[in-house]
Amino acid sequence: MTLLALAVAGRGLVDPEEPVVHADDEAFLRGRAAFETLRVYGGVPFRLESHLVRLAGSCERIGVEPPDAEECRELASLALGAAGEPDAALRFYRTAGRERAGAPGVVVLVSALPEGLEEKRAQGTKLVSLLGVRAEVPWLLGGVKSTSYAVNMAAEAEARTRGADDAVFVTDDALVLEGPVTNVWWRRGSKLFTPSLDLGILAGVTRDTVLELAPEHGFHVEQGRFPLSELAGADEAFTSSSVRELLPVVELDGAAIPRGDAAARLQAALRETAQRLP
Ligand SMILES: Cc1ncc(COP(=O)(O)O)c(C=O)c1O
Repeated sequence: MTLLALAVAGRGLVDPEEPVVHADDEAFLRGRAAFETLRVYGGVPFRLESHLVRLAGSCERIGVEPPDAEECRELASLALGAAGEPDAALRFYRTAGRERAGAPGVVVLVSALPEGLEEKRAQGTKLVSLLGVRAEVPWLLGGVKSTSYAVNMAAEAEARTRGADDAVFVTDDALVLEGPVTNVWWRRGSKLFTPSLDLGILAGVTRDTVLELAPEHGFHVEQGRFPLSELAGADEAFTSSSVRELLPVVELDGAAIPRGDAAARLQAALRETAQRLP
Protein backbone atom coordinates (compact mmCIF):
# COMPACT_ATOMS: atom_id res chain seq x y z
CA MET A 1 0.00 0.00 0.00
CA THR A 2 1.34 3.45 -0.82
CA LEU A 3 1.89 5.61 2.26
CA LEU A 4 0.04 8.91 1.94
CA ALA A 5 0.38 10.47 5.39
CA LEU A 6 2.03 9.80 8.72
CA ALA A 7 1.40 11.09 12.24
CA VAL A 8 3.52 10.28 15.28
CA ALA A 9 2.78 10.76 19.01
CA GLY A 10 4.63 13.80 20.36
CA ARG A 11 5.40 15.07 16.86
CA GLY A 12 2.14 15.33 14.97
CA LEU A 13 2.29 15.13 11.20
CA VAL A 14 5.60 13.88 9.85
CA ASP A 15 6.78 13.70 6.26
CA PRO A 16 6.11 10.09 5.18
CA GLU A 17 9.66 9.98 3.78
CA GLU A 18 11.10 10.49 7.26
CA PRO A 19 12.12 7.54 9.49
CA VAL A 20 10.24 7.52 12.81
CA VAL A 21 11.25 4.39 14.77
CA HIS A 22 14.57 4.11 16.63
CA ALA A 23 16.92 1.28 15.72
CA ASP A 24 16.68 -0.06 19.27
CA ASP A 25 12.89 0.05 19.52
CA GLU A 26 11.76 -3.43 20.56
CA ALA A 27 9.16 -3.22 17.83
CA PHE A 28 12.04 -3.50 15.39
CA LEU A 29 14.36 -5.69 17.48
CA ARG A 30 11.83 -8.33 18.48
CA GLY A 31 8.49 -7.58 16.84
CA ARG A 32 7.06 -6.25 20.13
CA ALA A 33 4.42 -3.88 18.87
CA ALA A 34 0.67 -4.07 18.47
CA PHE A 35 -1.16 -2.80 15.43
CA GLU A 36 -4.54 -2.24 13.85
CA THR A 37 -5.60 -1.88 10.26
CA LEU A 38 -8.95 -0.41 9.34
CA ARG A 39 -10.72 0.94 6.36
CA VAL A 40 -11.78 4.53 5.91
CA TYR A 41 -15.02 5.13 3.96
CA GLY A 42 -15.74 8.67 2.81
CA GLY A 43 -13.23 10.04 5.33
CA VAL A 44 -14.72 8.10 8.28
CA PRO A 45 -12.72 5.22 9.81
CA PHE A 46 -15.03 2.20 10.14
CA ARG A 47 -15.54 0.98 13.70
CA LEU A 48 -12.61 2.98 15.03
CA GLU A 49 -13.61 2.41 18.64
CA SER A 50 -13.65 -1.39 18.23
CA HIS A 51 -10.18 -1.24 16.69
CA LEU A 52 -8.86 0.95 19.51
CA VAL A 53 -10.27 -1.45 22.10
CA ARG A 54 -8.62 -4.37 20.29
CA LEU A 55 -5.35 -2.42 20.08
CA ALA A 56 -5.42 -1.88 23.85
CA GLY A 57 -6.10 -5.61 24.35
CA SER A 58 -3.18 -6.60 22.08
CA CYS A 59 -0.90 -4.20 23.99
CA GLU A 60 -1.85 -5.78 27.29
CA ARG A 61 -1.07 -9.24 25.92
CA ILE A 62 2.44 -8.21 24.85
CA GLY A 63 3.15 -6.23 28.03
CA VAL A 64 3.05 -2.78 26.47
CA GLU A 65 1.06 0.04 28.01
CA PRO A 66 -2.00 0.71 25.83
CA PRO A 67 -1.96 4.06 24.04
CA ASP A 68 -4.23 6.93 24.95
CA ALA A 69 -7.32 6.45 22.80
CA GLU A 70 -7.94 10.18 22.42
CA GLU A 71 -4.39 10.72 21.20
CA CYS A 72 -4.91 7.93 18.66
CA ARG A 73 -8.10 9.57 17.39
CA GLU A 74 -6.35 12.95 17.09
CA LEU A 75 -3.36 11.50 15.24
CA ALA A 76 -5.72 9.62 12.92
CA SER A 77 -7.66 12.74 12.16
CA LEU A 78 -4.45 14.70 11.44
CA ALA A 79 -3.15 11.99 9.14
CA LEU A 80 -6.48 11.58 7.35
CA GLY A 81 -6.69 15.31 6.78
CA ALA A 82 -3.18 15.36 5.33
CA ALA A 83 -3.76 12.31 3.14
CA GLY A 84 -6.74 13.94 1.44
CA GLU A 85 -8.03 10.52 0.33
CA PRO A 86 -11.52 9.70 1.63
CA ASP A 87 -11.26 5.96 0.92
CA ALA A 88 -8.07 4.64 2.40
CA ALA A 89 -6.43 2.25 4.85
CA LEU A 90 -5.61 3.54 8.33
CA ARG A 91 -3.08 1.78 10.52
CA PHE A 92 -2.07 2.29 14.14
CA TYR A 93 1.17 0.94 15.59
CA ARG A 94 1.91 0.90 19.29
CA THR A 95 5.62 0.17 19.59
CA ALA A 96 7.16 -1.17 22.82
CA GLY A 97 9.72 1.64 22.79
CA ARG A 98 13.50 1.71 23.02
CA GLU A 99 15.20 -1.23 24.69
CA ARG A 100 16.21 0.66 27.80
CA ALA A 101 13.62 2.85 29.44
CA GLY A 102 12.08 3.86 26.16
CA ALA A 103 8.54 5.15 26.24
CA PRO A 104 6.12 3.30 23.97
CA GLY A 105 5.30 5.11 20.77
CA VAL A 106 2.28 5.56 18.52
CA VAL A 107 2.64 5.77 14.76
CA VAL A 108 -0.40 6.31 12.54
CA LEU A 109 -0.29 5.65 8.80
CA VAL A 110 -2.78 6.44 6.07
CA SER A 111 -2.21 4.51 2.87
CA ALA A 112 -3.94 4.16 -0.46
CA LEU A 113 -6.09 1.04 -0.72
CA PRO A 114 -4.35 -1.82 -2.53
CA GLU A 115 -5.10 -1.94 -6.24
CA GLY A 116 -7.24 -4.63 -7.79
CA LEU A 117 -9.49 -5.38 -4.82
CA GLU A 118 -12.71 -5.14 -6.80
CA GLU A 119 -11.30 -7.32 -9.58
CA LYS A 120 -10.35 -9.86 -6.90
CA ARG A 121 -13.86 -9.69 -5.48
CA ALA A 122 -15.28 -10.41 -8.93
CA GLN A 123 -12.83 -13.24 -9.65
CA GLY A 124 -12.82 -14.78 -6.20
CA THR A 125 -9.86 -15.96 -4.19
CA LYS A 126 -8.12 -19.34 -4.19
CA LEU A 127 -7.06 -20.76 -0.84
CA VAL A 128 -4.71 -23.51 0.25
CA SER A 129 -4.84 -25.01 3.71
CA LEU A 130 -1.61 -24.74 5.68
CA LEU A 131 -0.70 -25.88 9.16
CA GLY A 132 -1.16 -23.13 11.73
CA VAL A 133 -1.10 -23.13 15.50
CA ARG A 134 -4.11 -23.49 17.68
CA ALA A 135 -2.89 -20.63 19.83
CA GLU A 136 -4.98 -21.34 22.91
CA VAL A 137 -2.11 -20.79 25.35
CA PRO A 138 -1.48 -17.12 26.16
CA TRP A 139 2.20 -16.99 25.18
CA LEU A 140 1.45 -18.05 21.60
CA LEU A 141 -0.43 -14.75 21.34
CA GLY A 142 -3.51 -16.15 19.65
CA GLY A 143 -5.95 -13.39 18.81
CA VAL A 144 -3.28 -10.70 19.24
CA LYS A 145 -2.48 -8.30 16.41
CA SER A 146 1.23 -7.93 16.99
CA THR A 147 3.84 -7.01 14.42
CA SER A 148 5.33 -10.51 14.75
CA TYR A 149 3.48 -11.34 11.53
CA ALA A 150 6.40 -12.85 9.61
CA VAL A 151 4.78 -16.30 9.89
CA ASN A 152 1.53 -14.96 8.43
CA MET A 153 3.38 -13.30 5.56
CA ALA A 154 5.38 -16.51 4.92
CA ALA A 155 2.09 -18.43 4.74
CA GLU A 156 0.74 -15.97 2.14
CA ALA A 157 3.94 -16.42 0.13
CA GLU A 158 3.66 -20.22 0.41
CA ALA A 159 0.06 -20.05 -0.83
CA ARG A 160 1.20 -18.07 -3.88
CA THR A 161 4.03 -20.54 -4.53
CA ARG A 162 1.37 -23.25 -4.63
CA GLY A 163 -0.62 -21.31 -7.21
CA ALA A 164 -3.27 -19.94 -4.83
CA ASP A 165 -3.94 -16.40 -3.59
CA ASP A 166 -4.08 -16.93 0.14
CA ALA A 167 -3.90 -19.47 2.92
CA VAL A 168 -6.30 -20.80 5.48
CA PHE A 169 -4.64 -22.09 8.63
CA VAL A 170 -5.72 -25.43 10.04
CA THR A 171 -4.72 -27.23 13.24
CA ASP A 172 -2.76 -30.48 13.19
CA ASP A 173 -6.11 -32.25 13.57
CA ALA A 174 -7.49 -30.33 10.55
CA LEU A 175 -9.76 -27.85 12.29
CA VAL A 176 -10.26 -24.59 10.38
CA LEU A 177 -8.70 -21.53 12.06
CA GLU A 178 -8.36 -18.32 10.01
CA GLY A 179 -6.34 -16.85 7.16
CA PRO A 180 -3.06 -14.97 7.70
CA VAL A 181 -5.00 -11.68 7.66
CA THR A 182 -8.62 -12.78 7.35
CA ASN A 183 -11.39 -14.67 9.08
CA VAL A 184 -12.99 -17.50 7.15
CA TRP A 185 -16.68 -18.26 6.56
CA TRP A 186 -18.74 -20.76 4.64
CA ARG A 187 -22.40 -21.47 3.98
CA ARG A 188 -24.59 -24.54 3.79
CA GLY A 189 -28.16 -23.66 2.88
CA SER A 190 -29.08 -20.68 4.99
CA LYS A 191 -26.50 -21.43 7.70
CA LEU A 192 -23.18 -19.63 7.90
CA PHE A 193 -20.25 -21.17 9.74
CA THR A 194 -17.12 -19.55 11.10
CA PRO A 195 -14.49 -20.82 13.56
CA SER A 196 -14.98 -19.78 17.17
CA LEU A 197 -12.65 -17.38 18.95
CA ASP A 198 -11.68 -19.96 21.60
CA LEU A 199 -9.42 -21.52 18.95
CA GLY A 200 -7.09 -18.57 19.48
CA ILE A 201 -8.00 -16.72 16.27
CA LEU A 202 -8.32 -12.98 15.91
CA ALA A 203 -11.67 -11.42 16.81
CA GLY A 204 -12.03 -9.67 13.45
CA VAL A 205 -13.98 -6.43 13.49
CA THR A 206 -15.37 -7.36 10.07
CA ARG A 207 -16.25 -10.79 11.50
CA ASP A 208 -18.24 -9.00 14.22
CA THR A 209 -19.97 -6.87 11.61
CA VAL A 210 -20.92 -9.94 9.56
CA LEU A 211 -22.23 -11.60 12.74
CA GLU A 212 -24.48 -8.58 13.24
CA LEU A 213 -25.62 -8.34 9.62
CA ALA A 214 -26.20 -12.04 8.89
CA PRO A 215 -29.56 -12.51 10.69
CA GLU A 216 -31.22 -9.57 8.88
CA HIS A 217 -30.24 -11.25 5.63
CA GLY A 218 -31.78 -14.57 6.60
CA PHE A 219 -28.59 -16.35 7.70
CA HIS A 220 -28.19 -18.18 10.96
CA VAL A 221 -24.55 -18.25 12.11
CA GLU A 222 -22.84 -21.12 13.91
CA GLN A 223 -19.46 -20.52 15.50
CA GLY A 224 -17.48 -23.58 16.49
CA ARG A 225 -14.69 -26.06 15.82
CA PHE A 226 -15.13 -27.36 12.33
CA PRO A 227 -13.03 -29.77 10.23
CA LEU A 228 -11.61 -28.58 6.93
CA SER A 229 -13.89 -31.07 5.15
CA GLU A 230 -16.86 -28.85 6.14
CA LEU A 231 -15.30 -25.89 4.38
CA ALA A 232 -14.34 -28.06 1.40
CA GLY A 233 -17.93 -29.29 1.04
CA ALA A 234 -19.59 -25.90 1.51
CA ASP A 235 -22.19 -24.37 -0.81
CA GLU A 236 -20.17 -21.14 -0.75
CA ALA A 237 -17.28 -19.63 1.20
CA PHE A 238 -15.69 -16.24 1.76
CA THR A 239 -13.09 -14.43 3.83
CA SER A 240 -13.55 -11.24 5.84
CA SER A 241 -11.11 -8.49 6.76
CA SER A 242 -11.13 -4.73 7.14
CA VAL A 243 -9.30 -3.71 3.98
CA ARG A 244 -10.34 -6.51 1.62
CA GLU A 245 -13.85 -6.73 3.14
CA LEU A 246 -15.62 -9.91 1.95
CA LEU A 247 -13.88 -11.94 -0.75
CA PRO A 248 -15.60 -14.99 -2.23
CA VAL A 249 -13.53 -18.18 -2.08
CA VAL A 250 -13.64 -20.07 -5.37
CA GLU A 251 -11.10 -22.81 -4.70
CA LEU A 252 -9.70 -24.73 -1.74
CA ASP A 253 -6.64 -26.96 -2.16
CA GLY A 254 -7.18 -27.09 -5.91
CA ALA A 255 -10.88 -28.10 -5.74
CA ALA A 256 -13.63 -25.67 -6.78
CA ILE A 257 -15.97 -24.13 -4.21
CA PRO A 258 -19.29 -23.02 -5.71
CA ARG A 259 -20.21 -19.36 -5.77
CA GLY A 260 -23.34 -18.17 -4.04
CA ASP A 261 -24.96 -14.89 -3.20
CA ALA A 262 -24.34 -14.70 0.57
CA ALA A 263 -20.90 -13.14 0.09
CA ALA A 264 -22.24 -10.51 -2.33
CA ARG A 265 -25.28 -9.71 -0.20
CA LEU A 266 -23.27 -9.37 3.00
CA GLN A 267 -20.60 -7.37 1.18
CA ALA A 268 -23.30 -4.95 0.00
CA ALA A 269 -24.70 -4.77 3.53
CA LEU A 270 -21.23 -4.09 4.96
CA ARG A 271 -20.71 -1.23 2.50
CA GLU A 272 -24.11 0.17 3.26
CA THR A 273 -23.40 0.09 7.00
CA ALA A 274 -20.00 1.69 6.53
CA GLN A 275 -21.22 4.40 4.20
CA ARG A 276 -24.21 5.26 6.38
CA LEU A 277 -21.91 6.52 9.13
CA PRO A 278 -21.68 10.29 9.68
C1 LIG B 1 -4.93 -13.10 11.70
C2 LIG B 1 -6.07 -12.24 11.30
N1 LIG B 1 -7.32 -12.75 11.32
C3 LIG B 1 -8.38 -11.99 10.95
C4 LIG B 1 -8.24 -10.67 10.53
C5 LIG B 1 -9.45 -9.84 10.12
O1 LIG B 1 -9.69 -8.86 11.11
P1 LIG B 1 -10.45 -7.50 10.78
O2 LIG B 1 -11.78 -7.87 10.24
O3 LIG B 1 -10.56 -6.82 12.11
O4 LIG B 1 -9.62 -6.74 9.81
C6 LIG B 1 -6.96 -10.11 10.50
C7 LIG B 1 -6.79 -8.71 10.08
O5 LIG B 1 -5.73 -8.27 9.75
C8 LIG B 1 -5.85 -10.90 10.91
O6 LIG B 1 -4.63 -10.38 10.92
